[in-house]
Order: sequence, then structure tokens, then C-alpha cells
Amino acid sequence: MTAAGAPQWRGIIEEYREWLPITADTPVVTLREGGTPLVRSETLSAETGCDVWLKYDGANPTGSFKDRGMTLAISKAIEEGAKAVVCASTGNTSASAAAYAAKAALTCAVLVPKGKIALGKMAQTLVHGARVLEVDGNFDAALELAKDLADRYPVTLVNSVNRFRLEGQKTAAFEICDALARAPDLHLVPVGNAGNISSHWLGYSDYLEAGVIHEPPRLFGFQAKGAAPIVLGEPVKDPQTIATAIRIGNPASWEKALSAAKESEGAILAVTDREILAAYRRVAREGLFAEPASAASVAGLLHLHAEGNLTADATVVCVLTGHGLKDPEWAIAGAAQPQTVRGDPAAVATELGL
Ligand code: F0G
Repeated sequence: MTAAGAPQWRGIIEEYREWLPITADTPVVTLREGGTPLVRSETLSAETGCDVWLKYDGANPTGSFKDRGMTLAISKAIEEGAKAVVCASTGNTSASAAAYAAKAALTCAVLVPKGKIALGKMAQTLVHGARVLEVDGNFDAALELAKDLADRYPVTLVNSVNRFRLEGQKTAAFEICDALARAPDLHLVPVGNAGNISSHWLGYSDYLEAGVIHEPPRLFGFQAKGAAPIVLGEPVKDPQTIATAIRIGNPASWEKALSAAKESEGAILAVTDREILAAYRRVAREGLFAEPASAASVAGLLHLHAEGNLTADATVVCVLTGHGLKDPEWAIAGAAQPQTVRGDPAAVATELGL
């Protein structure tokens, strides 16, 4: 217990208990996820003429939004007597599953596409003690394998096809509405396996139905151009993008994501890797380090703006889904390299032009 009255965010299950499918008997496995910053972007607001906010879900305990879903999925797995969990992943789900399984003392196995996982995510998954199995194939193949395994053996699947994942992830929408005291006009989010956009729509719909908000936002999801099956209307056999987190050719929540976009009068669109990297550098220069896939939401904002599809003064939220430290390669590749300097103040001052 923390001291009585000491303010500490309690994690999404305790903060939003009445909105979640749990009972008083559900054991709560939490790393105090959620409660992430909603940061106004002055420069993006000025450029687009909108009121632009960045929901920095990279500030979750394992550095991505997956923790919102994993606290619930692992808590329910424990409640149901599971001894082991499995997931397929492009890296963030595996990092999160490994951490929450460690907290709950569950065995965790992850299936990842060989050679396609950012280094930081692999480090997290290993350090939390998960068994990592590399699959010779992409994420879609790994997910089929994980599903098959869970069908046949006593192991619980914690990918977003596990409904508790989406229930937990919907809390991002609650936090945004609570912070703004209304829903935004537009809500922009990257799309990979298409669970997160579906979960956000679930959250806004819950708040709408309960009368907490009166208008839902329009939801816009952004896939990477080389991995944009929903935009193309057919699976992509060999998806390609530098944003490895969303390198997915046959999303599990395809239909749910399409419904979210349709019902909210939004859309699922594609942005190029070039647009993603430009947006990635841009938010970093505002102090928020997000991984490339996360920047697809901001790339999407600039894309909508360039096409004249934004209404002036609209309140817009872009979700930054994962932390930049997970995939530092792109940060270093695009930056000026450090210089060596002599160890005296005059030399440093000269170097800095002071
Ligand atoms: N952003 C990041 C940083 C992600 O890791 C993912 C998905 C997404 C966006 C897309 O979310 O799949 O719900 O549409 N990562 C999964 C993983 C696939 O295995 O970590 P989605």
C-alpha cells in the first residue's frame, strides 16, 4: 500500500473499473499503466489551424499502448486459471505480454517474425523472461501459428483477438475525453493488426451511450503504404515498411476497424514511409520521442491537411502509440553525428559558437 492520500494513478482497471468486464474477484495484475500525457502541439496547431493534441501512449510502463490491454488480458487469464500465455508480435505486444506475465508469474511464449523486431522490443521481451521463438515468415504467419497453438494446447492467447485486450485499450479514449471534458472532433491513430482503432471506437461508444460525451469523434486510421491491406481491400502477402510495428498484411480486426471508420464517418488511409519518417522527426523536435509506426498518426494529420481535408479549429488528437527508444536506429540514422571536443571550456564554447 502507498501512504493514505498519496496521489498515484492506480492503473486502468482501478481507474475505470465500472467500464470493464471484471468482478470484485478478478485478481488485478497491474504495472499502473494508462494515465499517459495528452500534450498540446503548438507547432502542429499553428500549421493546421486546428487544436492538435498528442496522446503519448509511449509513456506506459513497457513503452506502448499494449499495456492497457495486457493488464486486463493477464488478469483475466489468472482468474481463469491459466498457467501460460502466448502471443505473436511485431515487438510491442511481446514486450508487454512478457512484462505482465512476469508480474503474474505466468509462463510466456512469443512468436516473432525473424529479424523484423526492433532491438529495444527484443531486449524487453528477453529481460522479462519470455521464451522467444522466431518464425521464418511475417507477423501474419506468426499469428496463425499462435492461434493454432492456443486452440490445441493449454495456453491462453493474448493477442488482440482476445477480447479483453480491446476492452483494456478502450481506456485511451476515456482518458482523452476526461482530459478535454469532451470528445475530440477527429481521432487519428496508426493501424497494424487493427485492434487499437477498434478499441478506441469501443471506448468512445461506451461514453456516448452513457451520456458522458454527446458527439463522438471521426476516427481516421493510418496504415503504411507498403502494408495497407484495408486501404487496398485485400490482404498484402509481403507487407513492407520501415515502421516494423505495423508491418502487417492481413489484420485480425479488419472488419471491426472498417466499422469504426464507417460508423464514425472517418476512414482508413495510407501514408508513405517518407511521410512517417518526417512526422517522426517532427514530433521528436517537440520533445516527444515516438517510434516510427506511432508517427503514422501525425503523418496522417499532415496528409489530411495537405489535401485540404481539415476543418479550421477542429480539436484533433493524434495517438503516439509507442516509445522511440524501442527503435533508436532511425533516430541516429537521421541525425547529425556527435563531435569530439577538447576537454576545456574555451574549446567547447568555440565549438558551440558561444
Ligand atoms: N503502433 C505501435 C507502436 C504498435 O506496436 C502497433 C501494433 C500499432 C501501432 C498498431 O496497432 O495492431 O492494434 O492496429 N503492434 C502489434 C504488436 C501488432 O505485435 O506489437 P494495432
